[in-house]
Amino acid sequence: MKHLIDRYYRFIRPLRPLYGWALDAKRKARCSKRAEEWRAKKFRGAKLDVCGGRNPWKSGEFLNVDIMDFPQVDLVLDIRKRFPVDDDVIAEIFSAATLEHFREPDNLHILKEFHRILRPQGVLHVCTPNIEAIARGLLEGEDVRVINQHFFGKYKSDQTEDYDLHRWMYPARKMIEVLESIGFVYVQQVPNDTGLHDPKYNYVIKAEKK
Ligand SMILES: C[S@@+](CC[C@H](N)C(=O)[O-])C[C@H]1O[C@@H](n2cnc3c(N)ncnc32)[C@H](O)[C@@H]1O
Repeated sequence: MKHLIDRYYRFIRPLRPLYGWALDAKRKARCSKRAEEWRAKKFRGAKLDVCGGRNPWKSGEFLNVDIMDFPQVDLVLDIRKRFPVDDDVIAEIFSAATLEHFREPDNLHILKEFHRILRPQGVLHVCTPNIEAIARGLLEGEDVRVINQHFFGKYKSDQTEDYDLHRWMYPARKMIEVLESIGFVYVQQVPNDTGLHDPKYNYVIKAEKK
């Protein structure tokens, strides 16, 4: 098969965008179907990856929630607004590289919404840049490009979008304090073994709804 593809590649090559489009359409259809099935169940027991974007967490197990209608996204919504989900229904929430993109009032709103929609004993994991570790890295002589990226978000030249910029970061102990003040229990920093973002500069906090 590979031999055949190699041989006719120059004829197949112009069809590549079509293939990509078909793949995206198939992915989108799968996501929409999954979202409809969960919507019909009023999301009871669903697991959410909030702002999974193009890099979803455990796709298929977690519903990818994002403002952008990427092919991998199941539910398109703006998390600065009220989540269209009843109280006490979600089994688990995972959210990586999300909170740093919002100002403090939005952070508080989002974390309160997480608490509202999680069911009792529902678990939250947030993975976000560790402002203290980044500052320490700077003082210890870390490459200034790495430091700037963690502080201010990924710079993609003229491709940099508003969503790429960082606006607010809590030190881990402040994040723990905020989650506890919202009503979460067993709030603790856990090892960052997500494999998504450099554990040196990103922490993971785990919390549970009482
Ligand atoms: C840096 S990406 C994180 C992707 C993935 N979770 C990861 O860890 O690599 C941030 C995501 O947040 C999404 N986002 C930004 N603002 C949003 C909003 N108001 N509501 C929902 N999603 C938003 C962006 O579209 C983007 O996919």
